[in-house]
Amino acid sequence: MNQKVALVTGAGSGMGASTAERFAREGIAVGVLDINYSAAKSVEAEIVKKGGKAIALEADVSNQKSVITAVNALRKELGGITVLVNNAAVEEFCPFESITEASWDKIMDVNLKGVYLVTQAVLPDMVNSAWGRIINIGAFGAQMSTPSMGHYYASKGGMFSLTRCLAAELGSKGITVNTVSPGFIDTPMARRAIEEGKFPVAPEIIYGAYPIPRMGKPEEIAAACAFLASEDAGYITAQLLGVNGGAVV
Ligand SMILES: NC(=O)c1ccc[n+]([C@@H]2O[C@H](COP(=O)([O-])OP(=O)(O)OC[C@H]3O[C@@H](n4cnc5c(N)ncnc54)[C@H](O)[C@@H]3O)[C@@H](O)[C@H]2O)c1
Repeated sequence: MNQKVALVTGAGSGMGASTAERFAREGIAVGVLDINYSAAKSVEAEIVKKGGKAIALEADVSNQKSVITAVNALRKELGGITVLVNNAAVEEFCPFESITEASWDKIMDVNLKGVYLVTQAVLPDMVNSAWGRIINIGAFGAQMSTPSMGHYYASKGGMFSLTRCLAAELGSKGITVNTVSPGFIDTPMARRAIEEGKFPVAPEIIYGAYPIPRMGKPEEIAAACAFLASEDAGYITAQLLGVNGGAVV
């Protein structure tokens, strides 16, 4: 049997790194793509040390040329890509009236256009295999009404719609497309926001009000991705799976 090959974007840190490591433990060969190459290399080294197969890839998901070069390198090295996790994203806290055009464009380019570019680059392999799993990483705030991150949540809302459209287009080709929508997860992104005082109250007060009153772990997002990438999830498509401790009630 051919080994499955996955591409995880933003895999140099947080949930992307955990997902790449989880896939490798399950015997999936992984392309560890990040704009931060040294971070991707560290994740690659960790996977290889534990007996898994991985290659680090440097790319900016918002740049088509860079994406195509990285995808071609992965395909050449490990074979056709049949699992894709669109995880790379940037966030910014900013009241709506102060969002600059440059920062609107940056957030949309990385978080939404990046999903389009990477998915389009990888898709021919899934179509050739008549099998594929596309998993987009959303954000629970885009399912609620959350202040001061309009551009970020608009990008994630666009991703939710794109997930459903792609699911409708690709289901008959054997490809499922779903969103995993994380809650408040303990990653460098969340830690940065806490340290920079971006939340109006202490984080304990925020997550203390959730049905499961703690931050989530990156490994819990990785577990959801591993399930959606598995054979067992073959009849699940166009769905949004919240992994958020019940925060969206
Ligand atoms: N941490 C949370 O609480 C939380 C909550 C909801 C949703 N999310 C989402 O989860 C996903 C993972 O977030 P995280 O918390 O692990 O973040 P993180 O900042 O720890 O990791 C994101 C990674 O993406 C990479 N990246 C950024 N821009 C890139 C680009 N243009 N091209 C390629 N790589 C790029 C970064 O270098 C970094 O390694 C993101 O989609 C984020 O929006 C996070």
